[in-house]
Amino acid sequence: MSFLISVLLAVLCAVLLWALLTKLFTLLTCGHADLTRRVDDKIVVITGGNAGIGFETALDLCKRGACVVIACRDVKRGEKAERDIRKAVSNAKVNFMPLDLFSFKSIERFVSAFASRYAKVDILINNAGIMQNDKLELTGDMMEQTLQANYFSPFYLTKLMIPLLEKSQQGRIINVGSMLYLAGKVNVSKLADLQNDISGKNPDVYSDSKLLLAMWTRQLARRLTGTGITANYVHPGLVKTKLVNSNSIIWNLFIWLAAKSPYQGAQTSIHLAIHPTGLSVSGGYFQDCWNLPWIRARDQAQNLELWNETERIIADRIAERS
Ligand SMILES: NC(=O)c1ccc[n+]([C@@H]2O[C@H](COP(=O)([O-])OP(=O)(O)OC[C@H]3O[C@@H](n4cnc5c(N)ncnc54)[C@H](OP(=O)(O)O)[C@@H]3O)[C@@H](O)[C@H]2O)c1
Repeated sequence: MSFLISVLLAVLCAVLLWALLTKLFTLLTCGHADLTRRVDDKIVVITGGNAGIGFETALDLCKRGACVVIACRDVKRGEKAERDIRKAVSNAKVNFMPLDLFSFKSIERFVSAFASRYAKVDILINNAGIMQNDKLELTGDMMEQTLQANYFSPFYLTKLMIPLLEKSQQGRIINVGSMLYLAGKVNVSKLADLQNDISGKNPDVYSDSKLLLAMWTRQLARRLTGTGITANYVHPGLVKTKLVNSNSIIWNLFIWLAAKSPYQGAQTSIHLAIHPTGLSVSGGYFQDCWNLPWIRARDQAQNLELWNETERIIADRIAERS
């Protein structure tokens, strides 16, 4: 009996030590955006700014004087986020505007409403994302949900926002991706089939969407050369948000012990939004506020092929709708 108790105590101590070391590692490696830099009157659009990493990014940029538009799909959640930021930051310049990334029509409405209210956008943060590997479903545009929300819609939104970014002195596009892009498998010539296929599960659909986002970010940066607009890709780390919620107690314990807080997870997006290096680096991969080398998405010909195929697929979907 006493042996069993000793074993249990040893296991408990090992888990606590591991948790402590993991927390310490997260604290030491998690980058921090410069706390003193202000971005007064910069106009920022953050998709999915009502929750998780997006909300923390919106809150922080409001504290630094930016005018932030929280673009999200649910009116109640959007208005609540706006209220919460106003409570935390006196004179916050924050507004919620509806945007549903499951719908190209909603993107068009958002851009037209935004353009009638604001003359330019300085920073576009494509932050919203979902992970539905176990539940493949089609959107109203007849596209697989994760692929549309994480890739096709940011592509289309950005395309429509470019004229407004061009009116900024230093336009920045920040695409929130994931290190899981490394596990993505993309065959560009079969892209149309991939987004049509909702038969069963696809454990890779999230990674695939983040690889597509990475390839597009690289090509976007090339296309924007000489315009003064930069486009970069961010991996926020493993972050305790709704995205990584699960029913598994062990997984939730792991997340509780090892994951970053949403504030910590927002640091790299904030760093790119406020820091001058965001002006000179384009097409970069950022993690913990560091510009790291790309491991995938390096084939320029394939990135270009993806761009053309994506434009074709989106145009087809929009034509079918009308
Ligand atoms: N958490 C992590 O460990 C982790 C790791 C790597 C990368 N990321 C990336 O970080 C980004 C932010 O995720 P998070 O962790 O902060 O997750 P989150 O708390 O679940 O937030 C996701 C946001 O996206 C919005 N969204 C989802 N579908 C949408 C749609 N159709 N139209 C408009 N908005 C939509 C959500 O709105 P609702 O509130 O209405 O659902 C929410 O505001 C994502 O791109 C994610 O892939 C996260």
